[in-house]
Amino acid sequence: MEFKNIIYKVEDNIATIQLNRPKALNALNSGINNDILAALELVKADRSIRVLIITGNEKAFAAGADIKEMCDATPSYARSFCSAAIDINNTLESLPIPTIAAVNGFALGGGCELALACDFRVAGYKSRFGLPEVSLGIIPGACGTQRLIPLVGLAKTREVVMLNTIIKGEEALAIGLVNRLVDDAEVYDEAVRLAKELMAKPALALAAAKTAINAGAYGTIEEGKKIECNEFALLFDTHDQKEGMKAMLENREPKFTNS
Ligand code: CAA
Repeated sequence: MEFKNIIYKVEDNIATIQLNRPKALNALNSGINNDILAALELVKADRSIRVLIITGNEKAFAAGADIKEMCDATPSYARSFCSAAIDINNTLESLPIPTIAAVNGFALGGGCELALACDFRVAGYKSRFGLPEVSLGIIPGACGTQRLIPLVGLAKTREVVMLNTIIKGEEALAIGLVNRLVDDAEVYDEAVRLAKELMAKPALALAAAKTAINAGAYGTIEEGKKIECNEFALLFDTHDQKEGMKAMLENREPKFTNS
């Protein structure tokens, strides 16, 4: 499928959505949001895809929601505009496959929220993360305040959201906002390396781990404990659980079949 605002490809069981509005630093307008949502439907429908990478270009992952489109918005337009971004981020979180944001340059506002909704973030030294919405007279509208807290804690979240502090790559790594920091030219390749590491793991166990981790991060600890226990038990009905444990006991590499 051809898209106007993104480039979508699938290679070696890895899907990549590349945001492609370079003149606007990949600002997220309705057009690009609709393209991302459509690409996510393709990802959901293709069972051969094991990992999804979202990336931008060398200057920007995405510099936020499109301010030109939002500037004169009414509250009801603003609500429908942010519901598309919320849908994208919730879909990323609920996909059964791991997702990786490969971030070069600016990941601001809605761009930062998009990266936060991914399971992993790989970034370059020149990356810049921030939620500058308060300086525009608004607040993050696609769950940025909520997803940042479990990652970096309340104190840092208040700095980023209320003081609009911009986090540079090295600090992002130090505070756990990104998982891997590499040379800027290496970001996408490193994301592919991480994707391949993930693909060596059994897919059903990864999906269960993702469900349990997200429940723990965003729900109450009591709900999270129940979900973890349930996912744990259900995996004992899979080939890969038997194979993984037997291989360990027999001191050999496991042969996972994702079943
Ligand atoms: N929306 C619309 N256009 C944007 C944009 C955005 N968020 N960010 C950048 N652009 C456009 C600029 O208007 C400019 O377009 P023109 O060439 O037509 O003038 C082009 O991208 C290049 O930008 P700059 O010339 O500003 O580039 P720079 O290198 O000097 O600065 C920047 C880069 C610091 C990222 C600056 O562009 C900037 O501050 N952008 C806005 C960042 C921001 O506030 N994001 C939050 C948006 S609100 C939000 O995201 C709400 C939400 O949670 C849903």
